[in-house]
Amino acid sequence: MSLLITGGTGFIGSHTVVELLALDKDIVIVDNLANSSTLVLDRIKQITGKTVTFIEADICDRQAMQQVFLTHDIDAVVHFAGLKAVGESSTMPLSYYHNNVAGSITLLQVMAEHGVKNLVFSSSATVYGENNPSPLDETMPTSATNPYGQTKLMIENILFDLAKSDEQWSIACLRYFNPIGAHESGLIGENPNGIPNNLLPYVSQVAVGRLAQLQVFGDDYPTPDGTGVRDYIHVVDLAQGHVKALEKLKDISGCVPINLGTGNGTSVLEIVNTFKDISGQDIPYHIAPRRAGDIATVYADASVANNLLNWHAERDLATMIADTWRWQSQNPNGFE
Ligand code: NAD
Ligand code: WQD
Repeated sequence: MSLLITGGTGFIGSHTVVELLALDKDIVIVDNLANSSTLVLDRIKQITGKTVTFIEADICDRQAMQQVFLTHDIDAVVHFAGLKAVGESSTMPLSYYHNNVAGSITLLQVMAEHGVKNLVFSSSATVYGENNPSPLDETMPTSATNPYGQTKLMIENILFDLAKSDEQWSIACLRYFNPIGAHESGLIGENPNGIPNNLLPYVSQVAVGRLAQLQVFGDDYPTPDGTGVRDYIHVVDLAQGHVKALEKLKDISGCVPINLGTGNGTSVLEIVNTFKDISGQDIPYHIAPRRAGDIATVYADASVANNLLNWHAERDLATMIADTWRWQSQNPNGFE
């Protein structure tokens, strides 16, 4: 029996594959390399001493997906594949809806045809929209403020309806908060194309000298230092949450949303100052206007994950930043 990992050469997927290989799972990765490189496969081998089956394919390609299920004895899928840049989703909405929503429907149809009804899905805290107060919990109403968020919300709704229509489906819908950090080896990590959108890749590229200066988007939020507060979670903790979710699928009937966050909030300036201390590098920054669509404070109520999955995030902010810096300083140009 094998696990199919879509998007398995990406940031969160590759870290999850490492955790699953440590448990001796057979892994089949499907990725179209839209935002990743096969070089990550060598790094995974270096870390684990194990190999995976890699298939370069698009989840939107029904024939290719059918071939995957015909050739491999898949019993569960962890579905990471998707486009994730919020700003880009507003300029190319059709690409996002096609890739994320239509791609997921194709994957789900092929899974159903082959009787594979165990799924862990990469959702996002973005589905809480902008009107809920933190800590955010899974009972709160969902909404979206951009096409990327809409795709996550649409896929969640599809999964809820699918699970209602057929009780054989077991689905964990994991709502990630802000994943950062890297594997402690420094061999794999986040490797965004072009100028990073997210805070940590931006700060680490300033620290390593690839970018000149960070813009801090707003210092007039109602937060302790005026800058935005988020729930940053170590990608290895997140990966381990997927392992726990996969183990739990046998007890789940239906589709269950589960927050994966630490439950703690950290401001932009706390990130900058901690990064500066740990890396020993200067992080020049200036205060810029608020970024459209941002809200002041976002952090998780992580009690469902604690109780249902027996999971909690273990790594603290200093570890997250030390691991981010190790990855960035050892690989200033990513995997190239
Ligand atoms: P990533 O871009 O590093 O990984 C996604 C992978 O999916 C990439 O390797 C990409 O090549 C692949 N992919 C994209 N479209 C594909 C397609 N049509 N067919 C096959 N492969 C495809 O991103 P990540 O940070 O690892 O995110 C993984 C998942 O988690 C995504 O679904 C993302 O929306 C979700 N998520 C990410 C964050 C975050 O901040 N990183 C937060 C919440 C949710
Ligand atoms: C964090 C904080 C910014 C960049 C996004 C998506 C969300 C999820 C995770 C996928 C905010 C500030 C940032 C910069 C800054 N992804 N910032 N200067 O916006 O919380 O979440 O990634 O599902 O859907 O929206 O993360 O890292 O972009 O921002 O001051 O150059 O850092 O304003 O307060 P965000 P982020």
